[in-house]
Amino acid sequence: MTNNDTLHQRAAALLAAMTLQEKAGQLSQYFHLAAWPEQTEFVEAEVRAGRAGSLLFVADPRATNRLQRLAVEESRLGIPLLFGFDVIHGLRTIFPVPLGLAASWDPELAERVQATAAREARAVGIHWAFAPMLDIARDPRWGRIVEGAGEDPYLGARMAAAQVRGFQGEVFGAPDRIVAGPKHFVGYGAALGGRDYDEVHLSESELRNVYLPPFAAAVQAGAGNVMTSYVGIDGVPGAADRRLITDVLRGEFGFDGFVVSDAGSVIDLATHGFARDDRDAAARALRAGLDMEMSLGARFSGDPRPTPGVGAFGTLAAAVAAGEVEERLVDEAVRRVLLVKLRLGLFEQPYVDEAQAGAILSDAGHRELARSAAERAAVLLRNEGGVLPLDRSAVQSVAVIGPLADDPRATLGPWVFAHDLGATVTVLAGVRRVAGAAVRVAHAPGVPVPTRRFPSPFAMLEQLQPGQAPPAAPFDEGAEFARAVELARSSDVAVLVLGEAADMNGEAASRSTLDLPGRQLELLAAVAATGTPVVLVLLSGRPLDLRRAAEHSAAILAAWHPGTEGGWAVARLLFGDVAPGGKLPFTWPRSIGQVPLIYAHLNSHQPHTASMRYWEEESTPLYPFGFGLTYGAVAYANLTLSATAIGLDDAVQVSVELRNTSSRAVEEVAQLYLHQRHGRAARPVRELKGFARVTLEPGETRTLAFEVPAAARRYWSVAAGTYVLDESTFDVWVGGSSTASLHAEFAVRLDTTARPAE
Ligand code: BGC
Repeated sequence: MTNNDTLHQRAAALLAAMTLQEKAGQLSQYFHLAAWPEQTEFVEAEVRAGRAGSLLFVADPRATNRLQRLAVEESRLGIPLLFGFDVIHGLRTIFPVPLGLAASWDPELAERVQATAAREARAVGIHWAFAPMLDIARDPRWGRIVEGAGEDPYLGARMAAAQVRGFQGEVFGAPDRIVAGPKHFVGYGAALGGRDYDEVHLSESELRNVYLPPFAAAVQAGAGNVMTSYVGIDGVPGAADRRLITDVLRGEFGFDGFVVSDAGSVIDLATHGFARDDRDAAARALRAGLDMEMSLGARFSGDPRPTPGVGAFGTLAAAVAAGEVEERLVDEAVRRVLLVKLRLGLFEQPYVDEAQAGAILSDAGHRELARSAAERAAVLLRNEGGVLPLDRSAVQSVAVIGPLADDPRATLGPWVFAHDLGATVTVLAGVRRVAGAAVRVAHAPGVPVPTRRFPSPFAMLEQLQPGQAPPAAPFDEGAEFARAVELARSSDVAVLVLGEAADMNGEAASRSTLDLPGRQLELLAAVAATGTPVVLVLLSGRPLDLRRAAEHSAAILAAWHPGTEGGWAVARLLFGDVAPGGKLPFTWPRSIGQVPLIYAHLNSHQPHTASMRYWEEESTPLYPFGFGLTYGAVAYANLTLSATAIGLDDAVQVSVELRNTSSRAVEEVAQLYLHQRHGRAARPVRELKGFARVTLEPGETRTLAFEVPAAARRYWSVAAGTYVLDESTFDVWVGGSSTASLHAEFAVRLDTTARPAE
């Protein structure tokens, strides 16, 4: 009998001993927030009664152990709890936000980052990450663009698989890893108007060709969980979409883990106007293939502290009695949940070593990785006159200006709850550390970052965090603005750290403009008017409108929200201790009016007017997808293909030569794009199908090889109602961005056996 059989037998034995109430309990996950004592009291009683299978938001090893004891020692069957958490870009050590991680174009780095995050999480008793977020985001008004890998399904799929491997490791259940929970299945990023939670309408072609591939990749990489989405496609909310959960995710993709709802979204099936009431909601979610309800409390009505109470799954027994759902389906879901607990070894070892947790959370190696990840994530957008890297022998004074320059919270970004604010290295601290004793470094914030008009729903969670920044001291705007400008005037270079506060992106953080919030642009313009060269370091979770900012800045470095060691990383990049090499994982629009703007668009009947679709502004991006500069230059040459004509199922091998034509080491991400000229559907003008990040020493030439398998040409054809491979001619480009011009082509013929290139 295999180990797997044994686990199934143990799950079956437990199931046989459980009451229907206990089964429903295993399928119920509750928030456990210290700041919400009415709820924690209720939840702990449910745990003792064997009516809660999982908790979220506990990150203290003493608390996870205490709560686990309630389940293991005080509940009738002693089934351990599964602790979930939003381990989005780190637990204690915070890494760059996921959008930044994607900008590294380095899946191996993403894997190491999430393995490290998993190690910290597991040490405190967390078993499962609500991550990676795999929502393709093509509208930067949507605040959650920061949580994913941007606009592209291929980059998204590569990052998805890497992060799943990072969280889970080679062997499911390894003691220093956690279960990955890719989310939000599916289409959340397409919310109308970029408004969080708004409705979504996706064609089958977009769903299949753009939004699903990262999920397919995550499942293939072995993800143990998937979270459904708040939104629904065409009026069917994600938590109850049987076609997507059961037919596509389990049936087509072969997913064999458990599916959880997003917070409160089973109850919300009725709020949407989809389910009749909680019981109908519970029955339909379960029938759709959902296993676990993430429950906020009884009902969320805008109050951050909803009344404590069971979720919709509290009605499952009644739903079974009414014949609305078969108990067999309840059992099936419970079995999936129990199997995860068994595979994780929780029955053997439900507790964590509290003493060891501290040592793991303060592992210096984790911070080293955080620094290197932030360095690799940053994208150099502009560098006029080679102002960067700063030359320590020529620059005697640096003015570090701007409201985010010494703001640890903005350095970390959204979706952190167990971080250490005091240990966070801001850009100011980083520049002080890196500039050297001979360089005078001074700081002035200049302007405040405005607060949100509608406060973030995460404000309550923020207050839970010990060691929060003290309330802001009174700020004399007139005097501070003038002081910042004077400081710039008397310095050799001004580093302006501008952008968005942490709560301006993430969930419930959509925007109706892409402006630099508040008076930041005004400050930038005033500083530039002094004549001191300006380096703009942008902290943000989305592209911002930089048309005017670029006129005032010699250099622009998009550093995202770079994490615990972010400021150190930024300073090392500015002084050239390391070369920037990140590339944009999305198309950077000129203005909000262009949104959504993507590189993989269709040709239309008038390709020659594609850049002139607005009469008053170019319809081209400010910076294209895949764009990013380094210090130095790279030349591409000798693009060769293994064949000029191949059969439908054949692969083509592509090789290209990269040469560092400069006297500095460079970082480059070589990108391969493909275009199908004709077929059963018009296909995008180009689509990313391969990439490789390399470091090239001065003068070094390297040949890179890519394989373009048949699968890279496969797409969902609405006409055929299935995935197809077309006979066609294909263009290939390889270069340093989506505007790469080095070109080759090959033909795909039904009756052709591969013909080698002459
Ligand atoms: C978010 C999820 C998150 C969950 C738990 C929800 O509001 O949409 O992404 O994992 O909360 O924090």
